[in-house]
Amino acid sequence: MNNEQKLQRNRLETTLENIPSAILMVDKQGRVVIVNDTYNSTFNQGQQVLEGHYDEVITYPAIKRMIKDAIYTEKTINETIDIMVNVHKKYFDAVVVPVLSRRRRKLEGVVVVLHDITKLKSLEQMRKDFVANVSHELKTPITSIKGFSETLLDGAKNDPDTLEMFLDIILKESNRIQGLVSELLELSKIEQSSHIVLDEVNLSLKTENSLEVVQQLAGRKNIKIETLIEEDVLVMAEASKLKQVIINLLSNAINYSPEGAVIRVNVKNEGDGILEVIDEGIGIAKEEQTRIFERFYRIDKARSRESGGTGLGLAIVKHIVEVFGGTIVVESEVGKGSTFRVCLKKA
Ligand SMILES: Nc1ncnc2c1ncn2[C@@H]1O[C@H](COP(=O)(O)OP(=O)(O)OP(=O)(O)O)[C@@H](O)[C@H]1O
Ligand SMILES: [Mg+2]
Repeated sequence: MNNEQKLQRNRLETTLENIPSAILMVDKQGRVVIVNDTYNSTFNQGQQVLEGHYDEVITYPAIKRMIKDAIYTEKTINETIDIMVNVHKKYFDAVVVPVLSRRRRKLEGVVVVLHDITKLKSLEQMRKDFVANVSHELKTPITSIKGFSETLLDGAKNDPDTLEMFLDIILKESNRIQGLVSELLELSKIEQSSHIVLDEVNLSLKTENSLEVVQQLAGRKNIKIETLIEEDVLVMAEASKLKQVIINLLSNAINYSPEGAVIRVNVKNEGDGILEVIDEGIGIAKEEQTRIFERFYRIDKARSRESGGTGLGLAIVKHIVEVFGGTIVVESEVGKGSTFRVCLKKA
């Protein structure tokens, strides 16, 4: 090899090693003649792949089949395949390209490129779930509004009692839709506000203010709120969103507690600014504790719908807390109660 050739070879190797897709080249006898680092680190479970026959050294049937087809048909094969890699299901955009000799157009081998699209796939799934959830949530109240107005038009409007009752239901269901839509808008606003401006906010005062807002809700259920609020705990946040976090957590504590229960609210300074909302309510099972922060996730769908909930509250809370650079955790035992703990960076 002369110097020019060596240089070329070096460049080719460097390129292959640094490409984030897994790459293989198989010659026309089926021998693997090139394999890059990404392939080895993603798929190789310790076999000697280089120089082996692809049928023996590649353990994934889908890839083997594509190579076989490409060699046989001399055509490019492009598929999305899923492969179990160390117990995780991963998705790949896989292309097998036949390499034909320049002059005589004879098959020299095939190049295999596997591009990991697992992240894209899961985003796509999330989007589909989201659309399905939103449609489902809207369908119920809309069906009910439609049904009741049709019944009214069919003659029920002539009976004043029925008229009032049905109009009440229609109003309630419209409020539900309005609530859902405004929560969705809120969520998308937070998601888009990557440049949200954080400022010094008094967590102690914000908590006191928010308590006033939910006092009435608590009163209706005879729930007592006990507070232990250190003065002037200053955190990095955005005032109105912080208030939203506190109100959401307090409303949940009230909604998921029985009549006459006690709710405790602590604000303290522990290096970080800490807010705790502690209830003696129905509690949350271990396996639900991470899921409650997902959009639309509700443990008891019927009960939560009755209370007007959509399951977006905690998703919004978590999102906001993370935009603030903080964390939120829950500790809970079914039947005993729950503690939601928010840690925020000190200002
Ligand atoms: N303090 C709590 N105690 C017990 N369960 C709770 C508590 N907070 C939340 N949950 C459970 O987590 C679920 C999700 O809460 P989230 O606040 O996101 O939705 P929601 O309260 O149902 O509706 P909304 O969007 O109106 O807040 C609730 O449906 C409920 O099952
Ligand atoms: Mg809620």
